[in-house]
Amino acid sequence: MYLEGTYGLVVIFNDQTDLLMGARNGSPLVVGVGDGEMFLASDAAAFIGLSRQAIFLEDGELVIIRKNSYRTVNQQNLEIKKEIEEIDIEEKSAGKGDFPHFLLKEIFEQPESITRALGSGGRLIKEYGTAKLGGLNLEKRDFFDINHIRIIGMGTAYYAGMVGASCIESLARIPVTVSDASELKLSNPIITRDTLYLAVSQSGETADTIAAVKEIQNRGGRVLGIVNSVGSTLARMTEGGVYIHAGREVSVASTKVFTAQVTVLFLLALLIGRMRDISLSKGKRLVEEVMTIPEKLRSILMMNEEIKAIAATCTGAESVLFLSRGINHAVALEGALKLKEITYIHAEGFSAGWLKHGPLALVSKGTPCVFIAVEDNTFEKTIGNIQEVKARQGRIILITDSDNPEVHSLADDLIIIPKTDPVLSPILTVVPLQLFSYYIAELLGRDIDRPRNLAKSVTTE
Ligand code: M6R
Repeated sequence: MYLEGTYGLVVIFNDQTDLLMGARNGSPLVVGVGDGEMFLASDAAAFIGLSRQAIFLEDGELVIIRKNSYRTVNQQNLEIKKEIEEIDIEEKSAGKGDFPHFLLKEIFEQPESITRALGSGGRLIKEYGTAKLGGLNLEKRDFFDINHIRIIGMGTAYYAGMVGASCIESLARIPVTVSDASELKLSNPIITRDTLYLAVSQSGETADTIAAVKEIQNRGGRVLGIVNSVGSTLARMTEGGVYIHAGREVSVASTKVFTAQVTVLFLLALLIGRMRDISLSKGKRLVEEVMTIPEKLRSILMMNEEIKAIAATCTGAESVLFLSRGINHAVALEGALKLKEITYIHAEGFSAGWLKHGPLALVSKGTPCVFIAVEDNTFEKTIGNIQEVKARQGRIILITDSDNPEVHSLADDLIIIPKTDPVLSPILTVVPLQLFSYYIAELLGRDIDRPRNLAKSVTTE
C-alpha cells in the first residue's frame, strides 16, 4: 500500500505498547531522543523540557521507535543513518510567567528578542558600521552579482518582508519585490541567476512558503531563509540564512517575531548597503541607532495603560482603518491583520495615499482611523490625509514621533513614540498597534492566544 498526499503521521498499536511508528511527507515530524524514553512531535519545542536531542525526519522517511531505540528507513524500507542534533531553544519561553496570555508576554518580550536578533551586538561590527551574518553562506563578492531580491512569505512574515524590502531598497539600492508565497508557487515564476530569494517564516513549516521555495529551487534559484524555528523544514531546505532568535512564539498571532524579522532584514540591508551605497559614517550611525531600539521599545511598553484606555473606546467599532505611507505602510497592514485576527473586528490597512481612491467612502462620524506618521519624507503627505479624514468626522488615533503641537492637535487619541531612523521606525510603530489589538480582544473576552479558525503554523496549502 502506498500513501499519497501531505502528512505527518504517528501510528500507535493496541497490542504493542513499546512501539511507535512515524512518517512524514510535507508536514514536519521530529523525534526526541530521551533517556529511556522517546518523543515524536511536529516541533522540537514540544519536548524541549524533556530532551534536547532531536532527529529531524525528511519527506518520505519513516521512523520505528521503541523505548530505548529507534530506526529510520526510507519508503523502500532501506535503513538510513540520521544524525542526532542538539536543540538550542530557550526553555523558559515555555510558560506564560506572570502574564495572563502568551500574546501579552510575547509583546513585552520584544526588547529582549530584538537584542537576541542583534546577537547582543555580536551581529554588528561597530568600527565598519556594518553587520555580520555568518549563516548566509555567501562570499562578499557574491553580493556584486545580486541585482534583484525577491522576498516571499505569508501573513505577518509577508508584511515583515515588505518592511525589509523598503529597508533594502533604501540602504542597498537594490530593487526588491515581495511575493505572496501561495501565489508565487502557481504563477510560473520567472527565476533569474542574479536574483536572491529570501523566504521569511516564523515556523519554517508554512506549506505555501515551502512549496514556493521548492518551485524556485527546482528552477535553479538561490534561496536563503529568515526563520525563527531552529531545525524547521525551511531552515533545512534553504542554502543558508539567518535565524532570527526571537525565542519560541506560542500565541497564534505573531508579534515578537515580526519585529525580530524586521531587525534581521535591517541587518541584511545594512550589510549589502555598506558594500554598495552607504558611507562608513552612515553605517556607524545606523549601528549605534539600532542598539538603542530595545530601550526605546521599553519606553513604548510603559505606555500600555494609555493604549488600553484608547482600546477601551474602540470595542464597539464595526470597522477600523489603519493608514500610513512609505516603510510604515506595511505596519498599517500588519496592524489591521492583528486586529481582525484576535478581536474579529473588521479592519483594513491601506497606504494613506490610497484613501481617496476608494476607502475614504468608509469613513463616517466616529470611524476609528489609526494613522502612523513618522517624520520621514512621507510625513507632510500623511498629515494631509489625516486632515481629510478629520473633515469627514473620522476619529483619529495617531502614532507619531513628531513633537509638533499642531500635529498633535489633529488627533483624538495620541501615542508619541521615540524618534529613530526611519528605516528602523517599524520596529517601534508596530508595538502600540499590537497592544491596541490585545486590549480590545481582552475587553471583548476573545480567545486571545488561540483565535477561532486559525492555527499557529499553516502546514497545509
Ligand atoms: O510561520 P510563518 O511565519 O510562515 O507563518 C505565516 C503566517 O501564517 C503568520 O504570520 C500568520 O499570518 C500570523 N498568525 C499572523 O499573526
